[in-house]
Amino acid sequence: MNRTNTFSVTVKDSGFRACGLMALLVAMLVASPASAQQVVVPDNVGVHAAPEQPLPFSHRLHSMAMPDCSTCHVNPEPGHQMTFPENDTCMQCHAIVATDKASIASLQAYASSGKPVPWVRVYEVTPGVTWSHRPHLEAGEQCETCHGDIRQVDVVSQTKGTLAMATCIGCHQARAAAADCVTCHAWPTDRQLGFEE
Ligand code: HEC
Ligand code: HEC
Ligand code: HEC
Ligand code: HEC
Ligand code: HEC
Repeated sequence: MNRTNTFSVTVKDSGFRACGLMALLVAMLVASPASAQQVVVPDNVGVHAAPEQPLPFSHRLHSMAMPDCSTCHVNPEPGHQMTFPENDTCMQCHAIVATDKASIASLQAYASSGKPVPWVRVYEVTPGVTWSHRPHLEAGEQCETCHGDIRQVDVVSQTKGTLAMATCIGCHQARAAAADCVTCHAWPTDRQLGFEE
């Protein structure tokens, strides 16, 4: 008796789940425009070790005081890069905060020499591939989609498969963005090769 009850509950449950799935599928197929689709940039399966940085900067540690990425990463003309923060941005605090630490002493040395901290790049597109942050930010793409939840990490490593061609094309197709070869590869055109006027 007891057994039958349990069984019927289980069936009812999975029935509900199936209904929910169907509704979700139908909603995705019928209702939502391409731009509202959830695009998932896959995580890198292999370990991509973080490069050794000149200073042990932690996003997690700083993100409580500075939750806004744009405090440190701006997108100046022509918009390709997000850039690294000016030493002055750091010195607003570190002229007085944690000055007893060796890492902050070397930050101050960079600041007084006027040289930028030589941060080592984590994400870098293969040379020759056309890339710019600007059209992606204008289209409303989020930092998290391509870089993961940076606010939670002490050391940035390449956790996302953002640099793979399949990732670029997968999202472009989902967003109905241009995905022909010349969008990302400035290979010589027939005109440049002289085959065409
Ligand atoms: C207090 C300044 C500061 C804030 C705020 C900040 N960052 Fe950073 N970010 C840095 C510095 C310094 C580096 C270089 C060191 C490193 O890689 O950790 C960096 C590196 C990065 C990198 C790696 C860049 C590469 O080389 O490929 C990414 C991605 C990044 N930040 C994203 C973000 C995002 C997203 C946010 C907001 C959630 C954010 N950052 C907020 C200072 C900051
Ligand atoms: C569509 C994917 C995508 C989105 C969205 C994105 N990035 Fe990036 N990011 C990249 C790629 C690809 C690179 C490597 C670029 C290169 O090699 O020039 C990169 C590089 C960086 C770098 C290294 C310095 C530079 O400018 O190349 C920083 C810092 C960074 N991103 C921060 C951010 C922040 C902050 C946001 C949100 C405001 C963001 N990114 C949104 C894909 C993305
Ligand atoms: C809003 C104030 C503020 C700003 C701006 C700021 N920091 Fe910090 N930073 C802190 C605080 C607070 C700590 C924790 C100090 C401690 O552990 O005693 C810290 C810790 C650090 C440490 C670790 C010190 C150690 O060795 O334990 C490093 C490295 C660092 N910051 C680098 C930077 C860099 C680089 C920038 C600019 C991109 C920056 N900070 C901007 C407040 C700030
Ligand atoms: C998360 C989604 C997403 C990812 C991942 C992504 N893109 Fe895009 N990309 C877009 C969108 C959306 C646009 C804007 C399309 C528009 O405005 O019509 C765009 C625009 C572009 C443009 C400008 C195209 C034009 O017509 O001017 C280039 C170049 C580009 N992406 C290259 C890349 C490369 C290279 C990668 C991989 C390293 C990449 N994208 C990854 C969504 C993405
Ligand atoms: C949305 C951007 C995007 C589009 C569209 C695109 N590619 Fe790529 N392609 C990339 C990126 C990014 C890489 C570098 C991948 C890596 O290093 O793992 C790449 C690498 C390549 C490579 C490897 C050699 C090299 O230059 O590094 C070939 C070959 C290639 N693409 C061919 C094509 C062809 C053919 C098309 C059109 C059918 C195309 N790609 C369309 C982004 C794109």
